[in-house]
Amino acid sequence: MTSYLDRIGAGLVINRPDVFGFDYLPDELVGRDDYQVQLASIFSNIAHPNGTSRAVITGPVGSGKTAVAKLFCQDVIKHYSDRRNIKSVYVNCRNAATSSRVMQTIVQKLDPGHPDRGLGLGELLTSLKRMIKGSNSHLIVTLDEVDHLFRQSGDGVIYQLMRIDEDNDTTGSLSLIMISQEQILDLLENAVISRIGRTNHIRMPSYDRDGLYKIAEHRRNLALVTGTCPDEILTLISEAAEPSGDARQAIELLEGAAKRAEASGRSIIEPQDVQKTVITLPSNVDSINIDNLGAHHMLILIGICRRLRKEDSMTTGEAEKLYHVACEEYEVGPKGHTTFWKHLKKLTQENIISTKTSNAEVGRGRTQFISMPHMLPSDVARRLETLIPSKIRKK
Ligand SMILES: Nc1ncnc2c1ncn2[C@@H]1O[C@H](COP(=O)(O)OP(=O)(O)OP(=O)(O)O)[C@@H](O)[C@H]1O
Ligand SMILES: [Mg+2]
Repeated sequence: MTSYLDRIGAGLVINRPDVFGFDYLPDELVGRDDYQVQLASIFSNIAHPNGTSRAVITGPVGSGKTAVAKLFCQDVIKHYSDRRNIKSVYVNCRNAATSSRVMQTIVQKLDPGHPDRGLGLGELLTSLKRMIKGSNSHLIVTLDEVDHLFRQSGDGVIYQLMRIDEDNDTTGSLSLIMISQEQILDLLENAVISRIGRTNHIRMPSYDRDGLYKIAEHRRNLALVTGTCPDEILTLISEAAEPSGDARQAIELLEGAAKRAEASGRSIIEPQDVQKTVITLPSNVDSINIDNLGAHHMLILIGICRRLRKEDSMTTGEAEKLYHVACEEYEVGPKGHTTFWKHLKKLTQENIISTKTSNAEVGRGRTQFISMPHMLPSDVARRLETLIPSKIRKK
């Protein structure tokens, strides 16, 4: 009875599990060129022997802030290797939330043998200066999730890092990239943005459906066996992740769906693999409320669910027909076409279904396609079957 173990890591779908590792950084990013260019232009004097820069990157969760900054540091070191000896240190302030922890981390990453206890902030700073000077290098320090540092220790250490060359015989020692989520902009505004200048502030938006699709596609091509993940699956994933706009969520859905397919011994990902993964995401648990829908919303939805148990998408025309079938089944008169559309719109707004206009159908006008990325249609149908009768009676 250990045959089930054979399915784990059997490679039916996932070729390269490392691509889903939380630390994995792709060689290139998809659709973030504008922000990569912005960061590069803030650092335009980095090749100069005395050039230093400071940048702040803010944006919502999963918008690619960390990836953009890390990749930039990696690329810049390589690109200017024949002109300047550039090093970089990345510190996540969530794990190093005080001034001394930040300084210790920087110093230890540069010199793993450096004593880690008993040194004061001033001594650590002196060590850092000595290391930079001794190796004749320029250091880019990235302080990620910097709001944790501000909350615990204020902005003192940031100014010390910015002034590292003052009262010293050095120039151009250190550049700084600070990253934070958008909602603490006020905190940053007073602490740093007003000091380093607004032109050095990059604001990254969350990803839209298309952006998420391309990120999922990119990871699929890197990580999965060819032919195991049809494009429709990517569409479903991008729709499911759209409300959050979080790239991490799209990637996790792809990984989760791939693992589910493998666990069932399949070598192709099916819509249910995505849907079953979606319902495990914490953000979806209470955002969807089916119980409070009106009777006709439910009748429309049950028709949709029945079809989407077998297909990954359907047209609105089919949905309307199935709505009429459901009305007949529950012996209620169907609402007219306009009301049907209004209800459909509400189901979309509530993120219960997702609609997409196809431009493929030339000559027949625009066709809208419905899918259900956030939930498992069979689960919803079952719930509706118990809800509808009492809903109709109450009317
Ligand atoms: N444009 C992109 N192309 C490819 N992968 C991306 C892209 N943007 C983000 N990712 C990937 O998505 C995940 C989340 O991105 P990242 O960690 O950079 O987000 P973040 O903005 O720093 O989020 P948080 O606010 O939670 O720290 C990472 O695995 C990253 O590699
Ligand atoms: Mg991050």
